[in-house]
Amino acid sequence: MVNLKGRDFLTLKDYTTEEIEYLLDLAADLKDKKKNGIRYTPLTGKNIVLIFEKTSTRTRCAFEVAAADLGMNSTYLDPSCSQIGNKESIEDTARVLGRMFDGIEYRGFGQEIVEELAKHADVPVWNGLTDEYHPTQMLADMLTIREHLGELKGKKLTYMGDARFNMGNSLMIVCAKLGMHFTACAPKEYFPNAALVAECEEIAKQTGATIRLTEDVNEGTKNVDVIYTDVWVSMGEPAEVWEERIRSLTPYKVTADVMKNAGEKAIFMHCLPAYHDLKTKIGKTMGEKYGFEDLEVTDEVFESAQSVVFDEAENRMHTIKAVMAATLGD
Ligand code: CP
Ligand code: NVA
Repeated sequence: MVNLKGRDFLTLKDYTTEEIEYLLDLAADLKDKKKNGIRYTPLTGKNIVLIFEKTSTRTRCAFEVAAADLGMNSTYLDPSCSQIGNKESIEDTARVLGRMFDGIEYRGFGQEIVEELAKHADVPVWNGLTDEYHPTQMLADMLTIREHLGELKGKKLTYMGDARFNMGNSLMIVCAKLGMHFTACAPKEYFPNAALVAECEEIAKQTGATIRLTEDVNEGTKNVDVIYTDVWVSMGEPAEVWEERIRSLTPYKVTADVMKNAGEKAIFMHCLPAYHDLKTKIGKTMGEKYGFEDLEVTDEVFESAQSVVFDEAENRMHTIKAVMAATLGD
């Protein structure tokens, strides 16, 4: 019997296969309740705080809506309106917030910050994205794959782009935990770091998963079930990296040819936000500067029937609700 009460949610490395599957089942159940108009408020009267040192649409809204649905109140702190890191250490912040709130969400830079928060707060701490990991996104992605393709075990997922950062790392971990076949398809400077690959290979031995790193787009995307990509320049990275990223990663753009090579049953996924056209301020500026109309994915693929990106976005809310219900509930 899985019991996650009181647990932090910092990286899926800390969770067993059984615990991850439990959270996915719980999320599916909570989604079902919501769709059927069944109110479920087991956490009435509790309070959570959401710390965002980087911007967000999905994660913040998912935490706020999920908290309200479960009967909780939430308080949002952005970097400009709190003392965190400027006048007050993470350790002191953790001890203060732990006295007032039942749970703490943190989005920011290094993983060590959210680990430090968790160490000093006596309540569950949830990672809403760090440079290294994005574990709540993983639950949404796995629920989405399950909904579209059935079983997770044995499915082949290829991640294209910067595989060294939060999304590449986290997808490799979750695939290893769930017995899936993970491929990082990128220039070798963008492969996940060797220590994490070795760690995931150890996990894979227990679950039947495999880990493959390849620079070859044709080989890396042939007959796979899921093609996944993310922005090429992540939050917090300096503007100077754009030029080099575009040069190195353009061959790894998700195009109609890539999807064709994967097969007509393959699905396209992206954690969002995405540069699939020039309808954003940054996309337009960079597009004019470097002469492109899309970046990591073409508009054609993004808008195609194979794209499940908005199902993923919705599932952020149901899965984050599951994490809070499991770690705060009785
Ligand atoms: N996918 C994701 O984390 O989106 P936000 O940055 O909008 O939270
Ligand atoms: N790699 C991206 C993910 C956004 C959800 C970033 O960190 O900006």
